[in-house]
Amino acid sequence: MNACIRAVVRTGLHHDLQVVGIRRGYAGMIDGDFWEMDAHSVSNIIQLGGTILQSARSEEFRTAEGRKMAYQQLKKRGIEGVVAIGGDGTFTGANIFMKEYSDIAFVGIPGTIDNDLYGTDFTIGYDTAINTAMNAIDNIKDTANAHNRLFFIEVMGRDAGFIALRSGIATGAEAVLIPESKTNIDRLIDTLEYNFNRKKTSSIVVVAEGDDAGGAFTIAEKVKQKFNHYDIRVTILGHIQRGGRPTCMERVLASRLGMEAVRALLQDMKGVMVGEQCRKIVYTPFENAIKHHQEINPILLEMVEILS
Ligand code: F6P
Repeated sequence: MNACIRAVVRTGLHHDLQVVGIRRGYAGMIDGDFWEMDAHSVSNIIQLGGTILQSARSEEFRTAEGRKMAYQQLKKRGIEGVVAIGGDGTFTGANIFMKEYSDIAFVGIPGTIDNDLYGTDFTIGYDTAINTAMNAIDNIKDTANAHNRLFFIEVMGRDAGFIALRSGIATGAEAVLIPESKTNIDRLIDTLEYNFNRKKTSSIVVVAEGDDAGGAFTIAEKVKQKFNHYDIRVTILGHIQRGGRPTCMERVLASRLGMEAVRALLQDMKGVMVGEQCRKIVYTPFENAIKHHQEINPILLEMVEILS
């Protein structure tokens, strides 16, 4: 997100706009927690994970009273357009706000490690998260191979399996379990058994945290009851996936989306999420971005089956 903030600030200044950072998202908007930004405010942040503006979940912004306070703060500061980085919650809030106060334009940028947003091939955060997960799984594979172990590795994705799927393919996982497809434990055991009989010295199962059969611990327990040829271990990768140095692809994507969001505001666009599909910039109305979710490409699931 820092790369994106940097791009928004510098593009705004390039077009002679005054740029104000809002700390802590909608919560900071309500409190008037503003930061007058110049080119120097965003120096040396492109390589940093997280966000210098911080983030917050705001219950108050869900209320009409909270949004009114936010509106008054924006007006007092002379703010005419807002670039909001986030996902469903952020865009839902922006959409309701704009229906109540049509003189402030919101443009959204997709930011979530889960990559489940409609209207963009990739969201900000996703590429870094999958590379972090991939590196961690590579490391775990060394132990798995050395000790003939079966590892269940849980990655983030409360409602989405994109992180699990890509990191699983990239590490040659024997199976990937995701919320978008029904998990069949007996079928999983058949796969593991088949691999064991093929003299595989270890196996890796990547589990998205929101899988319908449960988290990695629950699934490992279910498997253990019927299949115990390997020593079984469980690793939860957790929040290491949400931070760290952004990848090159991420920095470039975030920079591009930040730049295009400011251009969209300058062209009087509002109520749209700026995304990138097939290398082209696309504008998706918030209503659509909220209503739909990106779908899993079934080919990726097939790849796990055929290639491992
Ligand atoms: O929504 C993105 C996400 O990364 C989910 O995949 C994950 O379950 C959740 O955030 C974790 O959120 P928190 O930091 O609040 O535990």
